Amino acid sequence: MPAISVKSPGKTILFGEHAVVYGHPAIAVPIKTINLEVKLIARPDYPQGKITIQNHNSGSLEELADLEENNPIKASIRILKKAFNLDHMPAAELHISSQIPIASGLGSSAALAVAIVRGFSQYLGFNLSNQRINELAYEVEIIQHGTPSGIDNSVITYNQPVFYIKDQPIEFLKFKNPFHLILANSGIHSLTKEVVAEVRESLNQDPDRINPLLESMGEIARSAKLELTKGNLQSTGRLMTENHKLLNELGVSCSELDELVNTALDEGALGAKLCGSGKGGNMVALVEASQSSRIKQSLLAKGAVSALSTIVG
Ligand code: PMV
Repeated sequence: MPAISVKSPGKTILFGEHAVVYGHPAIAVPIKTINLEVKLIARPDYPQGKITIQNHNSGSLEELADLEENNPIKASIRILKKAFNLDHMPAAELHISSQIPIASGLGSSAALAVAIVRGFSQYLGFNLSNQRINELAYEVEIIQHGTPSGIDNSVITYNQPVFYIKDQPIEFLKFKNPFHLILANSGIHSLTKEVVAEVRESLNQDPDRINPLLESMGEIARSAKLELTKGNLQSTGRLMTENHKLLNELGVSCSELDELVNTALDEGALGAKLCGSGKGGNMVALVEASQSSRIKQSLLAKGAVSALSTIVG
């Protein structure tokens, strides 16, 4: 059997993170310049069900059997076996290499879940629809994150911009013109599950303050959808910055992210905000093409540990 290779893109949330967990709309786009690759090589010489996992980023070589039950790879394979009614997976070598930084708001965990589900289903000879891959990857995300909205696995599975409302059909977006983004990494790792739990705690403690913030973020996402489809980048940028202020009030920013957002805006970005769960991870800025490399350099000079520019649309 020939080796199987599948790739998942990274993603960024342009509008509505956190609010999306509570049924408000959000907009996310794939970041096609970074990806996570899964390769599967058949090993009929291995004992039944043996799967070795080589992580080319960390250099680790492990066996599936030795991983914890909640490990995303183990969880994905367990979910696939259940979905396909299999006692064991055919023996294989699994190779993972990723350009998506972990715990940084760019979708590394959903990218892994989607690639494992897609890769193993191809390996087994099942030609699953994106819808089915997305459903299975969402089950993995539930094990990882507790109460995910499903936006990350959706934008990554379909590799298309999405206007997403939990438990509603996904709306795919077409933008009038391509636009330029810069993603700048604060270098601080933050766990989605923990930040989402903190927001839930604030909501329980003070619903009268938190609910209006979440509702405003949803309204911003609805306005941004209109502006983006009309190609109004100036207004889209303003809405991003407004969304960042609300995320700040929600308590999910940090001084490093605020500093990156302010730097991007001072240098002429059309808008900037944290992206993903926050408390670290990345900032996303909407910029004019001609300003991109200068703003990126300023962000690196102001403490971003890495920055990438990308075009969406
Ligand atoms: O930090 P990330 O990339 O896992 O993004 C999480 C987005 C949240 O809205 C905070 C959670 C969710 O499930 O939608």
